[in-house]
Amino acid sequence: MSEITYVNGRYIPTGEASVNVEDRGYQFSDGVYEVIAVSDFRLVDFKPHLRRLGRSLSNLDIEWPCSERVLKIVLTQLIKRNRLRNGIVYLQITRGVAPRNHAFPIEKIRSSLVVTVSRSGRPSAEKFTEGVKVVTMPENRWGRRDIKSVSLLPNVLAKQFAVQNGAFETWFVDDEQTITEGSSTNAWIVLAGQEVVTRPLGNDILAGITRMKLIELAKAGDIRITERPFTLDEAINAEEAFITSTTSFVMPVVDIDGKQVGTGKPGSVTNNLLA
Ligand code: PDD
Repeated sequence: MSEITYVNGRYIPTGEASVNVEDRGYQFSDGVYEVIAVSDFRLVDFKPHLRRLGRSLSNLDIEWPCSERVLKIVLTQLIKRNRLRNGIVYLQITRGVAPRNHAFPIEKIRSSLVVTVSRSGRPSAEKFTEGVKVVTMPENRWGRRDIKSVSLLPNVLAKQFAVQNGAFETWFVDDEQTITEGSSTNAWIVLAGQEVVTRPLGNDILAGITRMKLIELAKAGDIRITERPFTLDEAINAEEAFITSTTSFVMPVVDIDGKQVGTGKPGSVTNNLLA
């Protein structure tokens, strides 16, 4: 847990931090968020996270609560005050506080900014060496999954479905039987000839920062990446599979819906990308 939390201009002991009950984030999930890794006291890939945050805000017509420069100062201060060497920063911006009414408030309101940090949450080393299980369920989210909205109920239920089935993650399967992404991760497979396949960007998945970085690294390392939708069948019959996110990096998947993927152990391409 975060010892010190930032709430709308103040650094407060987390136990005392609170938000207004009429915050639209609380009442309507009318807000967006980012999860940024901290490594050796430094924010990892801050700029791309900031760019994605800006896109999420402008897509929902939510104002920046402060300038990007000030936001960076807030995050850096919070890392310092919590003495956070390694972990994650969670930041959330909502449209702000107004009497409850679905439509945007007529009067201009100030958006709310809350930032917390966390030291835990990284998967165990064993998961990286053994790989994890994934289960699947029908895609049931809205059509703008590219917006990093705090409205995460389907994702919450999907992750709970994974937990209840002894799995690490749930992949959503759309009407065409293709995998969109995981409840909080992007999905990948490796086919014969070491071809790495992941879904192209669009409204149907989140543009993961880890995904983007991995594609850059793969291209630099002469690893072939194909961005196209892949089916559940292809995934089960793939040589390797893995997921990516800020918190799970490159996590090998060795079982999908109870069926072994490849050798049932993390594959060499996945391990190479993780390294
Ligand atoms: N989740 N897809 C979804 C639906 C996500 O929620 C996330 C991130 C990703 C991967 O994005 P990135 O590589 O930028 O972390 C893909 C964060 C970690 C979370 O909600 O905790």
